[in-house]
Amino acid sequence: MVNKRIYLTSPHMSEEGYEMEYIKEAFDTNWIAPLGKNVDEFEHEIAQKVKVNDAVALTSGTAALHMALRASGVTPGDIVFCPSFTFSASANPIIYQGASPVFIDSDLKTWNMDPIVLGKAFMMYKPKAVLVVHLYGLAAQMDAIVDLCKKYHVTLIEDAAESLGTTYKGVHTGTMGDFGVYSFNGNKIITTSGGGMLVSNQKDLIDKVRYWATQSRDDAPYYQHSELGFNYKMSNIIAGIGRGQLKVLDRRIQKKKEIFQFYQNRLSDLEGLEMMPVHPDSDPNYWLSCILLNGKVSPTQIIKVLGENNIEARYTWKPMHMQPYFSEYEFVGEGICEEIFNRGVCLPSDTKLTLDDLDRIVELIRSVWKQ
Ligand SMILES: Cc1ncc(COP(=O)(O)O)c(C=O)c1O
Repeated sequence: MVNKRIYLTSPHMSEEGYEMEYIKEAFDTNWIAPLGKNVDEFEHEIAQKVKVNDAVALTSGTAALHMALRASGVTPGDIVFCPSFTFSASANPIIYQGASPVFIDSDLKTWNMDPIVLGKAFMMYKPKAVLVVHLYGLAAQMDAIVDLCKKYHVTLIEDAAESLGTTYKGVHTGTMGDFGVYSFNGNKIITTSGGGMLVSNQKDLIDKVRYWATQSRDDAPYYQHSELGFNYKMSNIIAGIGRGQLKVLDRRIQKKKEIFQFYQNRLSDLEGLEMMPVHPDSDPNYWLSCILLNGKVSPTQIIKVLGENNIEARYTWKPMHMQPYFSEYEFVGEGICEEIFNRGVCLPSDTKLTLDDLDRIVELIRSVWKQ
């Protein structure tokens, strides 16, 4: 018999069916699209949750990053600092704006942008914005990064696509810079099937993004557009899913944390295996539990043995400066992110995992050390 498929992470709707209630309300009132109560409330609820002044719900995290760069005044020819160790969606919107990324190395303490390397990069380039990413739910070293951005008067955008609910010194990731971005893509800690949110304490800029994202329709009796427009607003149905999911965010974080602790307890004795770093200043959402291998066992061996048993595991992100598309752009650092890519594995972190599933995963991983 083929074992049931275990995913890295998959959509997990609320046990109570909250999402369907909000969707039903949208159907009953015929507010299917474009906007409506669910959108307004979802924006308000996210802003309240992360303690920020304002939020705008968009079609994806990528669209939210694009709008954040635009609202930061990034235009063709500008430079934007971005970590190399990330998903390509962090870097692509820099290109949409006609700007150039300069990729910054990670540190081993957080796996995120290294503030020391960032400081060196500031001495080499004059960027228009810094885009920091909080990968896998781990927070970057924000105090040092915020200080550098203030010192050089540069806008700071936080790509918190993977880290909704993570805090750094008690403050939510996504709220320490000028703009923060969350993703509700299917694999995220809560999902709307697809969607994103841009948050900021600067209400005027969020209002501007809301205008751009609805095709830049002026307040006029006819269709008038004074600026370039985008079709980036989230629909009222999708926002209904988001409202339902937000009610179970804390429950999902708790389960993700238990998954991480399970792996930590049952794998840490293996020679050359370290868990991803949890910085003492942060309280992660543990979106994915990742490990770093040092020596005898390779990521490929782990991914293979799990794959043969119908269990999904993945390599950590391949750095942007190693990607064929981005290879022409500059990279600053010593190649720590290459090391994490070469040695890292993302383990199954689905909130629907049972204790039996976790036992099986751990035994399969341990079997590689016995080969
Ligand atoms: C780090 C990071 N940035 C940006 C995104 C883009 O979000 P979306 O898929 O909602 O466009 C994702 C996820 O997909 C991500 O993991």
